[in-house]
Amino acid sequence: MENLNFFRKKSLELDKTDPLNNYKNYFCSESDLIYFDGNSLGRLPKSTIDQTTDLIKNQWGRELIQSWNKHWFKLINDTTVYLSKMFQCNPSELFVGESTSNNLYKVIDSLAASKKFKTVITDSLNFPSDIYVIEEICSRNNLRFEFLKYKTDIECEIELLKNIIQNNPNSIISLSLVSYKSSYCYPYKALNELCEKNNCELVWDLSHAAGALDINFEKDKFTFAVGCTYKFLNGGPGSPAFIYVSEKKIKKIKSPIRGWFGHSKPFDFNFKYEQSDSMEKFRSGTPHILSLSTLPSALLITNKASTSKIDFKRKKMIKYFLELFDKFLVNRGFIYESPSLKEIGSHISISHNESWRICKSLIKPKSGNKFIVDYRPDRFLRIAITPLYSSYHDLYLFVERLMIIIDKNEYLIHDNSKNIVP
Ligand SMILES: Cc1ncc(COP(=O)(O)O)c(C=O)c1O
Repeated sequence: MENLNFFRKKSLELDKTDPLNNYKNYFCSESDLIYFDGNSLGRLPKSTIDQTTDLIKNQWGRELIQSWNKHWFKLINDTTVYLSKMFQCNPSELFVGESTSNNLYKVIDSLAASKKFKTVITDSLNFPSDIYVIEEICSRNNLRFEFLKYKTDIECEIELLKNIIQNNPNSIISLSLVSYKSSYCYPYKALNELCEKNNCELVWDLSHAAGALDINFEKDKFTFAVGCTYKFLNGGPGSPAFIYVSEKKIKKIKSPIRGWFGHSKPFDFNFKYEQSDSMEKFRSGTPHILSLSTLPSALLITNKASTSKIDFKRKKMIKYFLELFDKFLVNRGFIYESPSLKEIGSHISISHNESWRICKSLIKPKSGNKFIVDYRPDRFLRIAITPLYSSYHDLYLFVERLMIIIDKNEYLIHDNSKNIVP
């Protein structure tokens, strides 16, 4: 095997000078598992265990219904404040709750109901469920559905997208800021400005960007966004999603779901529905306190580290991985399936003729470290770059492991049968 020593030493040096190198101690981990799942679920913060246990044992267990006033309205408020700090917006511009799909539906449908728009535009880099939601809203509201299919599933054809926006004023545009497969990241500020100029509303899905990229809603000219918190924000399985609406638009849109918690006075129990004029209008029902309970502790870690440092380390880790990739993986049949450093989010997609069996070998080694990455059809191995709990040395060990799997034909011991998760 090639001499890896230079890169091993380099990884250790980079870790030594990394200002975030102690953050992995905030998370639960196992010594023989290196976690690069890319990124469907972030790690469990240690502080979440105490916070959620207290909520279940004491707040629900002992204080019962009184906990709404004593703890749970504050929990909702704190979560919103922490998230607003991360996105550098006003807490009154955020709603935290429910799922991304649900929230995307509410936002796009509320825009459609305004009757100002003729078309909804999306593209082939978007997450499938976003596309399902948009298509249904179009058919119910008699809006034209414009689906841009690019030549590859790696990059957006940005000039084509810009032309479509310019040629279709008064449209709703829905895009995932970081594409779930290839990790392509759009020039979001330029697109926000272009949409504003053309009377279009751009609704971003930030699921693969929140907590990974240094996003500033005001400076970067965002108007509408949704996203989840269980990926780079480490909120846990099914932790609530969010909606951002910039201050100037909040009063102009109505949620399509008339939930009692979205009423301006939910506890008056009036028959007449009067929607809240704050972001609480998006609350379709009772807030999901159990799933919300895991989020504040996780957000505090991200805010303490700061998204600017996380973003900086993300780029540096990707650069280091690319050096290893060019030197040791290209000649072993691996293909780099993500855009260049300038246009990439916080995961890297690679592929190989044997992607699936390699994925199984990583997860089920005969001995040594287990590596978790994820597989997306038809060929992608997604590797998340999670600067809070991953190190440069983890990346080094990962590449070394891939080399062994190929050189020793280890993947051959696995069959090609597919479960949902390898
Ligand atoms: C980019 C993106 N959008 C939307 C979703 C769906 O989110 P939810 O399950 O919260 O509705 C996902 C799920 O992974 C996603 O990656």
